[in-house]
Amino acid sequence: MERKRLTYGFAAGVIATGVFIAGGSLAAVESMVGDAVKGETLYHACQACHSLDDNDLGPKHRGVVGRRAGSVADYSYSKALMTSGLTWDEATLDRWLTNPSALVPGTKMFFQISDAQQRADVIAYLKLQK
Ligand code: HEC
Repeated sequence: MERKRLTYGFAAGVIATGVFIAGGSLAAVESMVGDAVKGETLYHACQACHSLDDNDLGPKHRGVVGRRAGSVADYSYSKALMTSGLTWDEATLDRWLTNPSALVPGTKMFFQISDAQQRADVIAYLKLQK
């Protein structure tokens, strides 16, 4: 238990920087093919606040692709996300993970991924979590 708390503390420290240490290409490509296997590893960073099947700091993620934003009934969302009118698909998730506050001003998620390939990889992983 103590060990778990330490791990969370470390994750929060990393998250405070707001970005992954991106090792990928700097080229901005419009549409990228995501690698779900890499996405599963990248998803570990999300797990500081999210899990697939339980609400945590963030809402549970299973089935998120295709779902209306802010629609997990037993999670307490920001008003901004609940009234955003968004549906989560590849395009909206890409914009969300690029900068949640730019897409939904007033959201309480601040984590972002600066690398487009890494965003595509995480989204490919989420798509499989039905
Ligand atoms: C530091 C905590 C934190 C981290 C790390 C984090 N999130 Fe979030 N996330 C949140 C919070 C809090 C919300 C709720 C936002 C709101 O209500 O405005 C959220 C909401 C979301 C939503 C909206 C879900 C819905 O039901 O509408 C998605 C999608 C999401 N996060 C994806 C991710 C992904 C993918 C990652 C990893 C790349 C990630 N988040 C990392 C805290 C986090």
